[in-house]
Amino acid sequence: MTVTIVGSQLGDEGKGALVDLWGGNADIVVRYQGGDNAGHTVVENGEEYKLSLVPSGAVRGKIGILGNGCVVNPRTLFDELDTLRDRGLDPDVRVACRAHVIMPYHRVLDGIEEEEKSDDDLEAGTTGRGIGPTYEDKVGRRGIRVGDLLDPDVLRDRLEYVVPQKRAVVEDVFGMDAGEEFDVESLHEEFVAIGRRLEEEGMTVNAGDFLGTRLDAGENLLFEGAQGTSIDIDHGIYPYVTSSNPTAGGASTGTGVGPTVVGRGEVVGVVKAYLSRVGTGPLPTELDGDDEELADYIREKGGEFGTVTGRPRRIGWLDVPMLRHAARVSGFTGIAVNHLDVLAGMDTVKLGDAYKLDGERMETMPATTERWADCDPILKEFDPWPEVDWSAVAGEGYDALPAAARTYLDYLSDEVGAPIYAVGVGPDRAETVELVDPFERDA
Ligand code: IMP
Repeated sequence: MTVTIVGSQLGDEGKGALVDLWGGNADIVVRYQGGDNAGHTVVENGEEYKLSLVPSGAVRGKIGILGNGCVVNPRTLFDELDTLRDRGLDPDVRVACRAHVIMPYHRVLDGIEEEEKSDDDLEAGTTGRGIGPTYEDKVGRRGIRVGDLLDPDVLRDRLEYVVPQKRAVVEDVFGMDAGEEFDVESLHEEFVAIGRRLEEEGMTVNAGDFLGTRLDAGENLLFEGAQGTSIDIDHGIYPYVTSSNPTAGGASTGTGVGPTVVGRGEVVGVVKAYLSRVGTGPLPTELDGDDEELADYIREKGGEFGTVTGRPRRIGWLDVPMLRHAARVSGFTGIAVNHLDVLAGMDTVKLGDAYKLDGERMETMPATTERWADCDPILKEFDPWPEVDWSAVAGEGYDALPAAARTYLDYLSDEVGAPIYAVGVGPDRAETVELVDPFERDA
């Protein structure tokens, strides 16, 4: 069967903790979108591993697949693999031949475009990893795929077509100097060598075929979504979005496993008990102005600083219309709520229950970001809950959570229309209250 883990908000919901928790029952952990913009920290036997591309399951001895929907920077991939090997691990990571390659010029173009857009406050606040420009080339049918790296002649043809165009954009459109990132010969040399290494290490795979065969043999797949629903290219707050589909549909298109197969499995939405946001754009429930101190408290306590960029994250109350939208787009069968402990010990706990837009109450997000910016949150106040011994609570189970916290969670679950599968009450793997293991729900 399959279990798909999806971010319900703006990324950084703590998906890694759930991948950790349930990955033990998976044979293969598969990423289906995004690239090295997704920071996650894995702690195994007291060792901390910071990864941005390699699926976290690879640290735990699972096969890790980067599906065709991913964009792969081979330099990052090999750096992460080399680091893991230096630390005594033996990760088994395979990359879809159909996945697109982040080339050095994509990263340069990401930086130039963001700089240009900043004049009009239109920058997305990207991670600068070349994600958007690589997906642009994929859709523009001028991308370089992992499979192309295995054939030097094909790679040369592709580079000779695309690189002069990129060079012209930098020089003629932006009036800047194009550096060695735009040199066909050196790119060809570097990426032929990369292709050779991928081949020698048996790292390339026909993802849909491979995964389908494994499923037929009765194996379990865990689809590890990166980023979150509200920064999905189709369903998010465009243009302040990433360039892929973190929502559950991406698990099918980004791996070659059919939507009926993904849909017969479990789809778990991961929710952070409040909101955090890296990057720009509106945020109706943002804690700013008079609430700045509250935001600082949550930011420090929750460690809300970007894993990839180190940037302090913006903080807001939980936005329930955003969650209703996420549940509908991905068809959640369950939710996992993280960071509940971070809200403990406050004087008050609120959430954005609905929006007020043009005098009307709205239960879900409007389709344009500009209208979303016009929304005023209708806040609902909850009794606060105290600090408790969270490790003990995790051991005892859901009923051991403070009553006020359970009221908050039960309300959420009702509004989203999906049962609670897990509650995160601390950063350690053991600090999760597990109600349901989705792999155990196989019909
Ligand atoms: P890009 O994915 O680097 O193109 O960035 C586009 C937008 O997505 C920016 O607002 C980023 O801050 C955001 N973003 C990308 N990856 C993540 C993530 O893993 N967590 C949270 N935000 C992200």
